[in-house]
Amino acid sequence: MTLILGLESSCDDSAAALVTSDRRVLAQAVVGQNSAHQPYGGVVPEIAARAHVEILPGLIEQVLREAKMTVHDVDAVAATAGPGLIGGVMVALLAGKGLALASGKPLIAVNHLEGHALSPRLADPDLDFPYLLLLASGGHCQLLEVAGVGDYRRLATTIDDAVGEAFDKAAKLLGLPYPGGPAIEELARQGDRAAVPLPRPLVGSLEPHFSFAGLKSAVQRAVASSDFKPADIAASFQQAVVDCLVDRTRLAMRNSEAPTLVVAGGVAANQAIRVALASLAQGQGRRFSVPPAWLCTDNAAMIGWAGAERFAVGHFDSLDVPARARWPLDERAEKVRGAGVKA
Ligand code: KG4
Ligand code: ZN
Repeated sequence: MTLILGLESSCDDSAAALVTSDRRVLAQAVVGQNSAHQPYGGVVPEIAARAHVEILPGLIEQVLREAKMTVHDVDAVAATAGPGLIGGVMVALLAGKGLALASGKPLIAVNHLEGHALSPRLADPDLDFPYLLLLASGGHCQLLEVAGVGDYRRLATTIDDAVGEAFDKAAKLLGLPYPGGPAIEELARQGDRAAVPLPRPLVGSLEPHFSFAGLKSAVQRAVASSDFKPADIAASFQQAVVDCLVDRTRLAMRNSEAPTLVVAGGVAANQAIRVALASLAQGQGRRFSVPPAWLCTDNAAMIGWAGAERFAVGHFDSLDVPARARWPLDERAEKVRGAGVKA
């Protein structure tokens, strides 16, 4: 059994966690910065980086105190090293390097996307490789075949906005707070998902990718027309996203024999999306796995867990490992226009 200290600061959540290789989260803490960024309708990099510097050290102390441990008790320190807002990424990575140096424990530089990609295995002990993963977050929307730790084949990505970004932009148009995903989900409960005619970009196309920019523009027109109730727009938008995700995932299933469909990343917290993908998997005779909502949105337990997975296969990093703003999971995948840089 190994014990890993996980650290995360790549976007607008500061987080620390203590995770074991036998799937126990001994302690974890996440502090979001929603109120700091809310006036701007999106994450402001300088504000985020400063806030991580102020918040993260206290969270590290807090999780160690809760577990009645010191950094000398852990087997390795795992810190997100990218992709993300570089000023923020550097906070957890430098903290991780300092703790690794001081304790003499190895450093594991975790790709934030790998944190999301492996997080379902922390929650689901029966989830073996390979699996087909829909990674749906604020900065990414990708379908990946996950064949093992560090072994990813990208089947699809977005050609413009990430799906979480689409939720955030639609929410802003509707006058809802940031982050938009939970706000839209809440408002959609009171709306009619068939009330507003909205496009489903790329649905039915054999091009494997995602697109959400046209959907956002259609929401903009619907809001401007004043013909529709906000709740109906929210419900119709969410349904359009569900239809896009299901159609694109169904297409990817043609190119993947993986027995399990998995969804992870912040957008996987959405109940309508979880239900629709579960039903898709069932219809295709595949198993379905999704982490609990707290493990979908950014957290450090998934970074600690990715660290535990890397520890098990002997992947460690030197103390001069750089922070990376861009860091694709599948380095061989061809570049597609517009794919996001944020995790
Ligand atoms: O994975 P995450 O916490 O951070 C990134 O790595 O980007 O994802 C954040 C994104 C935001 O765009 C947020 O609006 C979206 O996930 N999100 C949701 C829900 N909860 C968070 N989208 C739809 N429904 C939700 N319940
Ligand atoms: Zn994330």
